[in-house]
Amino acid sequence: MKYAAVLGYGTVGSGVVEVIETNFDLIAKNAGDAIKVKYIVDIRDFSNDPHADLFVKDFATVEADPEVNVVVETIGGINPAYDFTKRALKAGKSVVTSNKELVATHGAELLALAKENSCNYFFEASVGGGIPIIRPLCQCLAANRVDEVLGILNGTTNYILNRMITGGLTFEAALSEAQEKGYAERNPAADVEGHDACRKICILSALAFGRHVYPDAVVTEGITKVTLEDVAYAENGDMVIKLLGRAKRTEDGKIYAFVGPHLVPKSELISNVNGVFNSVMVRGNAVGDTMFYGRGAGKLPTASAVVADVIDACQHTDCTKYAGWEDTTESILADSNDFVSAYYVRVSGESVRSAVNNAFGEVSFLSRDGAKADECACITAPMSKRELDEKVKILSESCVVYAPMKVLALD
Ligand code: HSE
Repeated sequence: MKYAAVLGYGTVGSGVVEVIETNFDLIAKNAGDAIKVKYIVDIRDFSNDPHADLFVKDFATVEADPEVNVVVETIGGINPAYDFTKRALKAGKSVVTSNKELVATHGAELLALAKENSCNYFFEASVGGGIPIIRPLCQCLAANRVDEVLGILNGTTNYILNRMITGGLTFEAALSEAQEKGYAERNPAADVEGHDACRKICILSALAFGRHVYPDAVVTEGITKVTLEDVAYAENGDMVIKLLGRAKRTEDGKIYAFVGPHLVPKSELISNVNGVFNSVMVRGNAVGDTMFYGRGAGKLPTASAVVADVIDACQHTDCTKYAGWEDTTESILADSNDFVSAYYVRVSGESVRSAVNNAFGEVSFLSRDGAKADECACITAPMSKRELDEKVKILSESCVVYAPMKVLALD
């Protein structure tokens, strides 16, 4: 028998307990040993819960119990999750988590700590919820030099954009709907400002490129400035707007990493990832393009990935599976101002088209029903962000320029 302790009995934690119980026999077969939840740590009162006898309030009980093999951290956030994780690893217990903020911030240190103590720190559920992506990247694609990783990494924003596109809802109305359905939190900043997607691309970048990438070093833009006008112009260009997290290797071995709304041609597979679904594309130098798709959030999809980690941890109780990634002060990040992309630009002002041509040269103009006489939108030639900023500055002297967006072009 192997024993797990679940920290935090929220949506994911309760899903983990449910999956471990519902699939008990099947999990025992797959793991080669039965797995039971011995403790649930939560400071709240669950005396009426069917699992009331498993609850403890003090993590020290778990820490001191030699029978506990695996600690499941589903508290979220940095504290006290960081402290509990370090204490569990130091006690030689493997830790599995869905906590992307903790992995993105302290992952290198926690992986090193796991190695020092001959146990494991697993985080399959931290990116893409139930989608298998961490293990495929570390194991199945281990023979590749990864050249690019990109994805729709946040279900809430994908739902909002999708409702703007298919339902004609404004950003604010789509956000309210997402909150009513329980997809978006009451404080939706982490999702709509792109921070959640940023943490996830940091984790994928560290795995793919071997060096810790800190969230505050990644240029991050959310979807709050996207309007129905943008949606209509994108449609005219046979494109949809998606929030993408991207990391791309440069020729000198650095990486560009950023998060932002993109216009995605409908011919790209990822343009069809709708609602709360997530998708990750990984490009390897041997395999070419691979694509992973599924539910990026939710109780049971996330628990599916967490419990798979629990099984893996139970099968590897005396060795560390992953070497982790480097945590050096020298950043692996290239200056994202040098990244070259075509841009979507929406502008209003007098003689707007000639002003756009003066600033950008040749562009492809888009159209939309109900466009005002003084507005236009276009797709520029490929240019660096630095060049774009210079041209926008010139154009802004005579016109209003709305937030430009990159146009996805996979070569
Ligand atoms: N808020 C996240 C999302 C949850 O919407 O994708 C899963 O990380």
